[in-house]
Amino acid sequence: MSGRKILVTGGTGYIGSHTVVELVNAGYDPVIIDNLSNSSPKIIDQIEKITGTRPEFYNFDLCDEKLTLEFLEEHRDISGIIHFAAFKSVGESEREPLKYYKNNFYPLINLLDACSDRKMDLVFSSSCTVYGEPDILPVNELAPVKKAESTYGNTKQIAEEILEEVSGVSENLKVIALRYFNPVGAHSSALIGELPIGVPQNLVPFITQAAIGKRGNIIVFGDDYNTSDGTCVRDYIHVVDLAKAHVAAIKQMENIQTVKKFDIYNIGTGRGNSVLEVIHAFESATGQKLNYTIGKRRAGDIEKIYGDVNKAEKELFWKAELGIEDMMSSAWEWEKYIKQNPL
Ligand code: WQD
Repeated sequence: MSGRKILVTGGTGYIGSHTVVELVNAGYDPVIIDNLSNSSPKIIDQIEKITGTRPEFYNFDLCDEKLTLEFLEEHRDISGIIHFAAFKSVGESEREPLKYYKNNFYPLINLLDACSDRKMDLVFSSSCTVYGEPDILPVNELAPVKKAESTYGNTKQIAEEILEEVSGVSENLKVIALRYFNPVGAHSSALIGELPIGVPQNLVPFITQAAIGKRGNIIVFGDDYNTSDGTCVRDYIHVVDLAKAHVAAIKQMENIQTVKKFDIYNIGTGRGNSVLEVIHAFESATGQKLNYTIGKRRAGDIEKIYGDVNKAEKELFWKAELGIEDMMSSAWEWEKYIKQNPL
């Protein structure tokens, strides 16, 4: 490949792998670093099956300062980084905060340090979790960042602060933080998708595993919220649309007109769906009947959140294209694939 070299950390993970595919599709040359702590090396084969290109892959831990410095020194042709590598479980972060502070900051700081002597465009995986329970919906990027509800959320807030500060004093560094809403679904080939370890904590992987018979009843966490049907509302976004947003962010930083050193974009669809709407969308998209019961509220859940995505549309020329039906049917195709072909 001859395109611009973009380092994708966490590139064998759920969002990372889809982004690698979209980078190849857009003519870039992605290079993956992943320590495989929450993913399979077989994802590289899957990416090759989809794109016809085998991305360069390095298996090491970015917490290792020496290895990170050496890697970037040896790869001076890398001029962009999409940094996914991080832990992401809200519950686990509450039980093991230090594990989260280490793993979500050491790699970021090592990477910033390692590329301080060259021009670099960096895209950072942030989260709508920084908004907490928003006062105004749809929530836009100017909304206040609320006190984090979890250590995981706190790592995203602090990482944004670090990036704003460091890019502000650097000649070389430009940063875009993408605040994701709720990524779901899988690639249309069904060759890559989400691979949760153990019982899924998130709604859509739980639904697909329940539908295939791996889990029992779905518990809807509360139906007494102040929403149309009483269940919580989220802005679900197809992972392929989300992956394309990263390519759009890289492209935007290539534009000579872009003078901003640090910027933030919401990446969602701009629409909210309740838990029951998601369950029914899955049933109608797949023809599978789901069994669910209404349970108690889950501690820490936000009642409703969906994003104002106008800024991304205007400045990144990016917009989500796939709807809830596509999200559900692709997640289901992936669940069936993985049953037949465990990775
Ligand atoms: C969605 C809705 C649950 C499971 C996660 C991350 C967060 C951010 C966004 C990245 C909620 C309900 C769920 C179940 C249910 N991501 N639910 N039964 O909580 O919005 O947040 O994605 O930064 O940090 O935690 O996503 O998929 O867990 O829940 O009723 O078995 O589904 O209560 O309303 P959430 P989720």
